[in-house]
Amino acid sequence: MFNSYIWSLPSRVFHWLFVALMLLAFLTDDDKILNYHALIGYGVLILLIFRFFWGYIGPKYSRFKDFPLALRDVKEFALNIFSSKQKYIGHNPIASYVMIGIFVVVFLTIITGILAFGVQEAKGLLSSLNSTFFKKMELFEEVHEFFSNLLIVLIAAHLLGVFSDRVLHPAHKTLSSIFNGLKSTKEDFSIKLNIFQKLFALIFLALFVAFFVFNISTKNNPLVASKHTTVDYKMQNALFVKECASCHTLYPPHILPSASWVTMLGDLENHFGDDASLDEAQNRNILDFLVKNSAETSTQKVSVKVLDSIKNKDIIAITQSDFWKKKHKDIPKKVFAHRDVKSKANCKACHSDIEKGLIENDKIKDISAFM
Ligand code: HEC
Ligand code: HEC
Repeated sequence: MFNSYIWSLPSRVFHWLFVALMLLAFLTDDDKILNYHALIGYGVLILLIFRFFWGYIGPKYSRFKDFPLALRDVKEFALNIFSSKQKYIGHNPIASYVMIGIFVVVFLTIITGILAFGVQEAKGLLSSLNSTFFKKMELFEEVHEFFSNLLIVLIAAHLLGVFSDRVLHPAHKTLSSIFNGLKSTKEDFSIKLNIFQKLFALIFLALFVAFFVFNISTKNNPLVASKHTTVDYKMQNALFVKECASCHTLYPPHILPSASWVTMLGDLENHFGDDASLDEAQNRNILDFLVKNSAETSTQKVSVKVLDSIKNKDIIAITQSDFWKKKHKDIPKKVFAHRDVKSKANCKACHSDIEKGLIENDKIKDISAFM
Protein backbone atom coordinates (compact mmCIF):
# COMPACT_ATOMS: atom_id res chain seq x y z
CA MET A 1 0.00 0.00 0.00
CA PHE A 2 1.03 3.58 -0.69
CA ASN A 3 0.30 6.79 1.12
CA SER A 4 -0.74 8.99 -1.78
CA TYR A 5 -0.86 12.75 -1.46
CA ILE A 6 -4.43 13.46 -2.62
CA TRP A 7 -5.51 16.76 -1.08
CA SER A 8 -3.14 19.64 -1.73
CA LEU A 9 -2.44 22.25 0.92
CA PRO A 10 -4.75 24.86 -0.74
CA SER A 11 -7.60 22.31 -0.80
CA ARG A 12 -7.18 21.57 2.89
CA VAL A 13 -6.78 25.22 3.89
CA PHE A 14 -9.92 25.96 1.89
CA HIS A 15 -11.78 23.16 3.65
CA TRP A 16 -10.93 24.35 7.15
CA LEU A 17 -11.47 28.05 6.47
CA PHE A 18 -14.82 27.08 4.98
CA VAL A 19 -15.69 25.09 8.12
CA ALA A 20 -14.58 27.90 10.43
CA LEU A 21 -16.48 30.64 8.63
CA MET A 22 -19.58 28.51 8.31
CA LEU A 23 -19.52 27.88 12.04
CA LEU A 24 -19.10 31.61 12.65
CA ALA A 25 -21.97 32.34 10.27
CA PHE A 26 -24.29 30.11 12.30
CA LEU A 27 -23.05 31.63 15.56
CA THR A 28 -23.59 35.22 14.41
CA ASP A 29 -27.14 34.61 13.21
CA ASP A 30 -28.46 37.23 15.61
CA ASP A 31 -30.08 40.57 14.79
CA LYS A 32 -27.74 42.45 17.06
CA ILE A 33 -24.57 41.31 15.31
CA LEU A 34 -25.97 40.98 11.83
CA ASN A 35 -23.18 43.12 10.35
CA TYR A 36 -20.62 40.50 11.37
CA HIS A 37 -22.87 37.78 10.02
CA ALA A 38 -22.99 39.60 6.68
CA LEU A 39 -19.23 40.12 6.51
CA ILE A 40 -18.66 36.45 7.23
CA GLY A 41 -21.05 35.66 4.39
CA TYR A 42 -19.01 37.78 1.97
CA GLY A 43 -15.89 35.98 3.24
CA VAL A 44 -17.44 32.60 2.46
CA LEU A 45 -18.24 33.93 -1.01
CA ILE A 46 -14.52 34.59 -1.62
CA LEU A 47 -13.72 31.03 -0.54
CA LEU A 48 -16.44 29.71 -2.80
CA ILE A 49 -15.13 31.62 -5.81
CA PHE A 50 -11.70 30.17 -5.13
CA ARG A 51 -13.16 26.66 -4.91
CA PHE A 52 -15.08 27.15 -8.13
CA PHE A 53 -11.93 27.95 -10.12
CA TRP A 54 -9.98 25.31 -8.21
CA GLY A 55 -12.49 22.82 -9.54
CA TYR A 56 -11.24 23.59 -13.06
CA ILE A 57 -7.58 24.46 -12.70
CA GLY A 58 -6.75 22.69 -9.43
CA PRO A 59 -5.06 19.30 -9.04
CA LYS A 60 -6.77 16.11 -10.25
CA TYR A 61 -8.86 15.06 -7.26
CA SER A 62 -10.11 18.56 -6.59
CA ARG A 63 -11.40 19.02 -10.12
CA PHE A 64 -15.13 18.73 -10.72
CA LYS A 65 -14.26 16.53 -13.68
CA ASP A 66 -12.94 13.99 -11.21
CA PHE A 67 -16.27 13.87 -9.35
CA PRO A 68 -17.98 10.60 -10.41
CA LEU A 69 -21.51 11.90 -10.88
CA ALA A 70 -22.88 9.34 -13.36
CA LEU A 71 -25.94 7.55 -12.00
CA ARG A 72 -24.44 4.14 -12.72
CA ASP A 73 -21.47 5.12 -10.51
CA VAL A 74 -23.83 6.05 -7.70
CA LYS A 75 -25.69 2.79 -8.12
CA GLU A 76 -22.53 0.71 -8.29
CA PHE A 77 -21.08 2.51 -5.27
CA ALA A 78 -24.25 2.06 -3.22
CA LEU A 79 -24.41 -1.66 -4.05
CA ASN A 80 -20.79 -2.21 -3.02
CA ILE A 81 -20.77 0.13 -0.07
CA PHE A 82 -19.98 -2.65 2.40
CA SER A 83 -17.03 -3.95 0.42
CA SER A 84 -13.71 -2.87 1.80
CA LYS A 85 -12.32 -2.60 -1.75
CA GLN A 86 -13.20 0.86 -2.99
CA LYS A 87 -12.13 2.17 -6.36
CA TYR A 88 -12.60 5.88 -5.71
CA ILE A 89 -9.50 7.78 -4.69
CA GLY A 90 -10.90 11.31 -4.48
CA HIS A 91 -14.58 11.81 -3.69
CA ASN A 92 -16.88 8.81 -4.04
CA PRO A 93 -20.11 9.35 -6.07
CA ILE A 94 -22.39 10.10 -3.13
CA ALA A 95 -19.81 12.37 -1.51
CA SER A 96 -19.48 14.17 -4.84
CA TYR A 97 -23.19 14.93 -4.87
CA VAL A 98 -23.06 16.13 -1.29
CA MET A 99 -20.04 18.37 -2.05
CA ILE A 100 -21.67 19.94 -5.07
CA GLY A 101 -24.90 20.28 -3.11
CA ILE A 102 -23.05 22.12 -0.35
CA PHE A 103 -21.35 24.50 -2.81
CA VAL A 104 -24.59 25.31 -4.64
CA VAL A 105 -26.64 25.74 -1.46
CA VAL A 106 -23.98 27.89 0.20
CA PHE A 107 -23.92 30.08 -2.90
CA LEU A 108 -27.71 30.45 -2.86
CA THR A 109 -27.65 31.13 0.87
CA ILE A 110 -25.17 33.96 0.38
CA ILE A 111 -27.05 35.51 -2.53
CA THR A 112 -30.38 35.45 -0.70
CA GLY A 113 -28.58 36.71 2.40
CA ILE A 114 -27.26 39.75 0.54
CA LEU A 115 -30.77 40.30 -0.85
CA ALA A 116 -32.42 40.03 2.57
CA PHE A 117 -29.79 42.31 4.07
CA GLY A 118 -30.41 44.88 1.35
CA VAL A 119 -34.19 44.72 1.00
CA GLN A 120 -35.14 44.29 4.63
CA GLU A 121 -32.30 45.82 6.63
CA ALA A 122 -31.45 48.49 4.03
CA LYS A 123 -27.81 47.55 4.40
CA GLY A 124 -24.92 46.45 2.25
CA LEU A 125 -24.43 46.22 -1.50
CA LEU A 126 -28.14 45.95 -2.31
CA SER A 127 -29.43 48.49 0.23
CA SER A 128 -30.95 50.46 -2.65
CA LEU A 129 -33.46 47.62 -3.03
CA ASN A 130 -34.98 48.65 0.30
CA SER A 131 -38.03 50.23 -1.27
CA THR A 132 -41.80 50.12 -1.00
CA PHE A 133 -41.70 47.92 -4.10
CA PHE A 134 -41.05 44.92 -1.86
CA LYS A 135 -44.16 44.91 0.27
CA LYS A 136 -43.26 41.56 1.73
CA MET A 137 -39.75 42.34 2.86
CA GLU A 138 -39.29 39.10 4.80
CA LEU A 139 -39.52 37.00 1.68
CA PHE A 140 -35.77 36.91 1.06
CA GLU A 141 -35.06 36.23 4.70
CA GLU A 142 -37.41 33.28 4.58
CA VAL A 143 -35.73 31.87 1.49
CA HIS A 144 -32.33 32.54 3.09
CA GLU A 145 -33.40 30.56 6.14
CA PHE A 146 -34.72 27.76 3.99
CA PHE A 147 -31.35 27.39 2.27
CA SER A 148 -29.42 27.57 5.53
CA ASN A 149 -31.59 24.78 6.93
CA LEU A 150 -30.97 22.77 3.79
CA LEU A 151 -27.29 23.40 4.35
CA ILE A 152 -27.49 21.91 7.83
CA VAL A 153 -29.00 18.78 6.30
CA LEU A 154 -26.17 18.56 3.75
CA ILE A 155 -23.51 19.13 6.39
CA ALA A 156 -25.09 16.36 8.45
CA ALA A 157 -25.00 14.12 5.36
CA HIS A 158 -21.33 14.98 4.89
CA LEU A 159 -20.48 14.12 8.50
CA LEU A 160 -22.52 10.94 8.30
CA GLY A 161 -20.61 10.01 5.14
CA VAL A 162 -17.25 10.61 6.78
CA PHE A 163 -18.33 8.62 9.79
CA SER A 164 -19.66 5.65 7.83
CA ASP A 165 -16.57 5.64 5.62
CA ARG A 166 -14.48 5.45 8.76
CA VAL A 167 -16.48 2.43 9.90
CA LEU A 168 -16.85 0.68 6.53
CA HIS A 169 -13.53 1.47 4.85
CA PRO A 170 -11.05 2.33 7.61
CA ALA A 171 -8.06 1.31 5.48
CA HIS A 172 -8.52 4.35 3.20
CA LYS A 173 -7.75 6.85 5.96
CA THR A 174 -10.27 9.27 4.47
CA LEU A 175 -10.81 11.12 7.74
CA SER A 176 -7.13 11.82 8.40
CA SER A 177 -6.65 12.80 4.74
CA ILE A 178 -8.35 16.13 5.30
CA PHE A 179 -5.66 16.91 7.86
CA ASN A 180 -2.52 15.58 6.16
CA GLY A 181 -3.68 15.15 2.56
CA LEU A 182 -2.73 11.46 2.51
CA LYS A 183 -4.91 8.53 1.54
CA SER A 184 -3.92 4.91 1.51
CA THR A 185 -3.97 3.55 -2.07
CA LYS A 186 -2.77 0.52 -4.07
CA GLU A 187 -0.45 2.55 -6.25
CA ASP A 188 1.13 5.93 -5.76
CA PHE A 189 -1.49 8.38 -7.07
CA SER A 190 0.09 11.48 -5.52
CA ILE A 191 -0.57 14.87 -7.04
CA LYS A 192 1.87 17.74 -7.24
CA LEU A 193 0.92 21.38 -7.69
CA ASN A 194 2.44 23.31 -10.56
CA ILE A 195 3.73 26.84 -10.09
CA PHE A 196 0.61 28.33 -11.64
CA GLN A 197 -1.68 26.50 -9.19
CA LYS A 198 0.49 27.55 -6.25
CA LEU A 199 0.41 31.15 -7.36
CA PHE A 200 -3.34 31.09 -7.89
CA ALA A 201 -3.93 29.71 -4.40
CA LEU A 202 -1.57 32.24 -2.87
CA ILE A 203 -3.30 35.16 -4.59
CA PHE A 204 -6.66 34.03 -3.24
CA LEU A 205 -5.27 33.62 0.25
CA ALA A 206 -3.88 37.16 0.05
CA LEU A 207 -7.27 38.39 -1.21
CA PHE A 208 -9.00 36.65 1.68
CA VAL A 209 -6.67 38.19 4.26
CA ALA A 210 -6.95 41.60 2.59
CA PHE A 211 -10.73 41.31 2.79
CA PHE A 212 -10.61 40.99 6.56
CA VAL A 213 -8.09 43.80 6.93
CA PHE A 214 -10.36 45.97 4.78
CA ASN A 215 -13.37 45.19 6.98
CA ILE A 216 -11.56 46.00 10.19
CA SER A 217 -10.01 49.21 8.89
CA THR A 218 -12.84 50.72 6.82
CA LYS A 219 -15.37 53.09 8.28
CA ASN A 220 -18.80 53.08 6.64
CA ASN A 221 -17.88 49.84 4.96
CA PRO A 222 -20.14 49.68 1.87
CA LEU A 223 -20.60 45.95 2.45
CA VAL A 224 -22.64 46.68 5.57
CA ALA A 225 -23.39 50.41 5.38
CA SER A 226 -27.01 51.38 6.02
CA LYS A 227 -29.09 53.33 3.55
CA HIS A 228 -30.77 55.07 6.45
CA THR A 229 -28.69 57.78 8.06
CA THR A 230 -29.34 59.93 11.08
CA VAL A 231 -31.73 62.87 10.75
CA ASP A 232 -31.36 66.22 12.50
CA TYR A 233 -34.99 67.03 13.28
CA LYS A 234 -34.07 70.43 14.67
CA MET A 235 -32.86 71.41 11.21
CA GLN A 236 -35.96 69.99 9.56
CA ASN A 237 -38.57 71.43 11.89
CA ALA A 238 -37.48 73.26 15.04
CA LEU A 239 -41.05 73.75 16.25
CA PHE A 240 -41.72 70.01 16.15
CA VAL A 241 -38.67 69.36 18.35
CA LYS A 242 -39.52 72.16 20.75
CA GLU A 243 -43.16 71.11 21.24
CA CYS A 244 -43.00 67.36 20.95
CA ALA A 245 -39.82 66.56 22.85
CA SER A 246 -40.53 68.68 25.91
CA CYS A 247 -42.37 65.95 27.83
CA HIS A 248 -40.93 62.75 26.31
CA THR A 249 -38.78 61.14 23.64
CA LEU A 250 -38.99 62.86 20.28
CA TYR A 251 -40.89 60.21 18.35
CA PRO A 252 -39.76 60.14 14.71
CA PRO A 253 -42.69 60.81 12.34
CA HIS A 254 -42.12 57.51 10.52
CA ILE A 255 -43.05 55.37 13.54
CA LEU A 256 -46.79 55.98 13.08
CA PRO A 257 -49.21 56.05 10.12
CA SER A 258 -50.54 59.42 9.01
CA ALA A 259 -54.03 58.57 10.29
CA SER A 260 -52.62 58.22 13.81
CA TRP A 261 -50.95 61.62 13.62
CA VAL A 262 -54.14 63.25 12.32
CA THR A 263 -56.15 61.76 15.20
CA MET A 264 -53.55 62.69 17.78
CA LEU A 265 -53.06 66.27 16.63
CA GLY A 266 -56.84 66.64 16.43
CA ASP A 267 -57.05 66.31 20.19
CA LEU A 268 -53.88 67.54 21.87
CA GLU A 269 -55.88 68.88 24.79
CA ASN A 270 -56.47 65.34 25.94
CA HIS A 271 -53.10 63.93 25.11
CA PHE A 272 -52.55 60.82 27.25
CA GLY A 273 -53.88 62.69 30.26
CA ASP A 274 -51.89 65.83 29.54
CA ASP A 275 -52.77 69.07 27.82
CA ALA A 276 -50.33 69.44 24.97
CA SER A 277 -52.44 71.85 22.95
CA LEU A 278 -50.94 74.26 20.43
CA ASP A 279 -52.31 77.25 18.58
CA GLU A 280 -53.83 76.52 15.21
CA ALA A 281 -50.89 77.59 13.04
CA GLN A 282 -48.41 75.57 15.06
CA ASN A 283 -50.70 72.55 15.08
CA ARG A 284 -51.01 72.72 11.29
CA ASN A 285 -47.26 73.13 10.87
CA ILE A 286 -46.42 70.09 12.99
CA LEU A 287 -49.22 67.96 11.57
CA ASP A 288 -48.06 68.67 8.01
CA PHE A 289 -44.54 67.69 8.96
CA LEU A 290 -45.68 64.47 10.65
CA VAL A 291 -47.91 63.45 7.76
CA LYS A 292 -45.26 64.30 5.17
CA ASN A 293 -42.84 61.93 6.95
CA SER A 294 -45.27 59.34 8.28
CA ALA A 295 -44.75 55.56 8.20
CA GLU A 296 -46.29 55.39 4.71
CA THR A 297 -43.43 57.45 3.30
CA SER A 298 -40.64 55.42 4.88
CA THR A 299 -39.01 52.08 4.07
CA GLN A 300 -37.51 51.67 7.52
CA LYS A 301 -38.30 48.33 9.07
CA VAL A 302 -40.21 49.87 11.94
CA SER A 303 -42.48 51.76 9.51
CA VAL A 304 -43.26 48.71 7.40
CA LYS A 305 -43.99 46.63 10.52
CA VAL A 306 -46.05 49.28 12.26
CA LEU A 307 -48.20 49.89 9.19
CA ASP A 308 -48.77 46.19 8.85
CA SER A 309 -49.60 45.88 12.52
CA ILE A 310 -51.87 48.92 12.92
CA LYS A 311 -53.67 48.73 9.53
CA ASN A 312 -56.99 50.51 10.08
CA LYS A 313 -57.03 50.18 13.83
CA ASP A 314 -57.59 53.33 15.80
CA ILE A 315 -54.19 53.42 17.49
CA ILE A 316 -52.19 56.54 18.24
CA ALA A 317 -49.47 55.02 20.41
CA ILE A 318 -46.87 52.69 18.94
CA THR A 319 -46.70 50.96 22.33
CA GLN A 320 -50.31 49.85 21.71
CA SER A 321 -49.47 48.11 18.45
CA ASP A 322 -49.11 44.34 18.33
CA PHE A 323 -45.74 44.77 16.64
CA TRP A 324 -44.33 46.83 19.51
CA LYS A 325 -45.81 44.50 22.11
CA LYS A 326 -44.36 41.47 20.40
CA LYS A 327 -40.90 42.99 20.16
CA HIS A 328 -40.87 43.93 23.84
CA LYS A 329 -42.76 41.02 25.35
CA ASP A 330 -39.65 39.41 26.82
CA ILE A 331 -38.61 42.53 28.69
CA PRO A 332 -39.57 42.18 32.37
CA LYS A 333 -42.01 44.74 33.80
CA LYS A 334 -39.50 45.92 36.37
CA VAL A 335 -37.24 47.12 33.55
CA PHE A 336 -39.90 49.60 32.39
CA ALA A 337 -40.49 50.58 36.02
CA HIS A 338 -36.80 51.28 36.64
CA ARG A 339 -36.08 54.90 37.63
CA ASP A 340 -34.00 55.47 34.50
CA VAL A 341 -36.81 54.21 32.24
CA LYS A 342 -40.11 54.93 34.04
CA SER A 343 -42.33 54.26 31.02
CA LYS A 344 -42.61 52.04 27.97
CA ALA A 345 -42.93 55.24 26.00
CA ASN A 346 -39.47 56.38 27.09
CA CYS A 347 -37.88 54.83 24.01
CA LYS A 348 -34.65 56.79 24.25
CA ALA A 349 -33.73 55.05 27.50
CA CYS A 350 -33.00 51.96 25.38
CA HIS A 351 -32.80 53.14 21.76
CA SER A 352 -29.96 55.61 21.72
CA ASP A 353 -30.48 56.96 18.18
CA ILE A 354 -34.26 57.14 18.12
CA GLU A 355 -34.35 60.93 18.33
CA LYS A 356 -32.15 60.98 15.24
CA GLY A 357 -34.66 58.80 13.42
CA LEU A 358 -32.99 55.42 13.77
CA ILE A 359 -34.02 52.32 15.70
CA GLU A 360 -31.22 49.92 15.01
CA ASN A 361 -30.69 46.53 16.46
CA ASP A 362 -27.02 47.08 17.15
CA LYS A 363 -27.80 50.32 19.04
CA ILE A 364 -30.16 48.87 21.67
CA LYS A 365 -28.90 49.33 25.20
CA ASP A 366 -28.31 46.27 27.28
CA ILE A 367 -31.44 46.07 29.45
CA SER A 368 -29.64 44.18 32.21
CA ALA A 369 -28.51 47.67 33.30
CA PHE A 370 -32.14 48.24 34.32
CA MET A 371 -32.61 45.10 36.40
C1 HEC B 1 -47.35 68.26 28.10
C2 HEC B 1 -46.53 67.10 27.81
C3 HEC B 1 -46.61 66.53 26.41
C4 HEC B 1 -46.39 67.18 25.23
C5 HEC B 1 -46.07 68.65 25.00
C6 HEC B 1 -46.50 66.17 24.20
N1 HEC B 1 -46.76 64.95 24.75
FE1 HEC B 1 -46.87 63.20 23.75
N2 HEC B 1 -47.27 62.24 25.47
C7 HEC B 1 -47.32 62.82 26.71
C8 HEC B 1 -47.58 61.82 27.71
C9 HEC B 1 -47.70 62.02 29.20
C10 HEC B 1 -47.66 60.57 27.01
C11 HEC B 1 -47.87 59.20 27.59
C12 HEC B 1 -46.50 58.64 27.88
C13 HEC B 1 -46.48 57.33 28.58
O1 HEC B 1 -47.32 56.50 28.25
O2 HEC B 1 -45.59 57.15 29.40
C14 HEC B 1 -47.45 60.89 25.60
C15 HEC B 1 -47.45 59.95 24.60
C16 HEC B 1 -47.20 60.21 23.27
C17 HEC B 1 -47.15 59.22 22.24
C18 HEC B 1 -47.40 57.73 22.41
C19 HEC B 1 -46.13 57.01 22.83
C20 HEC B 1 -46.40 55.54 22.90
O3 HEC B 1 -46.74 55.08 24.00
O4 HEC B 1 -46.33 54.88 21.88
C21 HEC B 1 -46.90 59.87 21.09
C22 HEC B 1 -46.73 59.23 19.71
C23 HEC B 1 -46.80 61.25 21.39
N3 HEC B 1 -46.96 61.45 22.74
C24 HEC B 1 -46.55 62.25 20.46
C25 HEC B 1 -46.47 63.59 20.77
C26 HEC B 1 -46.32 64.61 19.78
C27 HEC B 1 -46.24 64.38 18.28
C28 HEC B 1 -46.26 65.79 20.44
C29 HEC B 1 -46.11 67.16 19.86
C30 HEC B 1 -47.24 67.61 19.12
C31 HEC B 1 -46.39 65.50 21.86
N4 HEC B 1 -46.52 64.15 22.02
C32 HEC B 1 -46.34 66.44 22.85
C33 HEC B 1 -47.13 64.14 27.01
C34 HEC B 1 -46.84 65.13 26.09
C1 HEC C 1 -36.50 49.11 28.43
C2 HEC C 1 -35.90 49.26 27.16
C3 HEC C 1 -36.75 49.58 25.96
C4 HEC C 1 -37.67 50.60 25.80
C5 HEC C 1 -38.12 51.62 26.82
C6 HEC C 1 -38.14 50.51 24.44
N1 HEC C 1 -37.52 49.48 23.81
FE1 HEC C 1 -37.71 48.96 21.86
N2 HEC C 1 -36.54 47.37 22.14
C7 HEC C 1 -35.87 47.07 23.29
C8 HEC C 1 -35.16 45.81 23.13
C9 HEC C 1 -34.30 45.13 24.14
C10 HEC C 1 -35.44 45.38 21.81
C11 HEC C 1 -34.95 44.12 21.13
C12 HEC C 1 -35.95 43.03 21.36
C13 HEC C 1 -35.51 41.76 20.66
O1 HEC C 1 -35.30 41.81 19.45
O2 HEC C 1 -35.40 40.76 21.36
C14 HEC C 1 -36.31 46.38 21.23
C15 HEC C 1 -36.78 46.33 19.91
C16 HEC C 1 -37.46 47.35 19.31
C17 HEC C 1 -37.82 47.39 17.92
C18 HEC C 1 -37.52 46.32 16.90
C19 HEC C 1 -36.19 46.56 16.26
C20 HEC C 1 -35.96 45.61 15.13
O3 HEC C 1 -35.44 46.04 14.12
O4 HEC C 1 -36.27 44.42 15.26
C21 HEC C 1 -38.46 48.57 17.69
C22 HEC C 1 -39.00 49.07 16.38
C23 HEC C 1 -38.52 49.25 18.95
N3 HEC C 1 -37.89 48.48 19.90
C24 HEC C 1 -39.12 50.48 19.11
C25 HEC C 1 -39.32 51.07 20.36
C26 HEC C 1 -40.06 52.29 20.55
C27 HEC C 1 -40.67 53.12 19.44
C28 HEC C 1 -40.05 52.54 21.88
C29 HEC C 1 -40.73 53.66 22.61
C30 HEC C 1 -42.15 53.84 22.32
C31 HEC C 1 -39.31 51.47 22.53
N4 HEC C 1 -38.89 50.60 21.56
C32 HEC C 1 -39.05 51.38 23.86
C33 HEC C 1 -35.87 47.81 24.44
C34 HEC C 1 -36.67 48.89 24.69
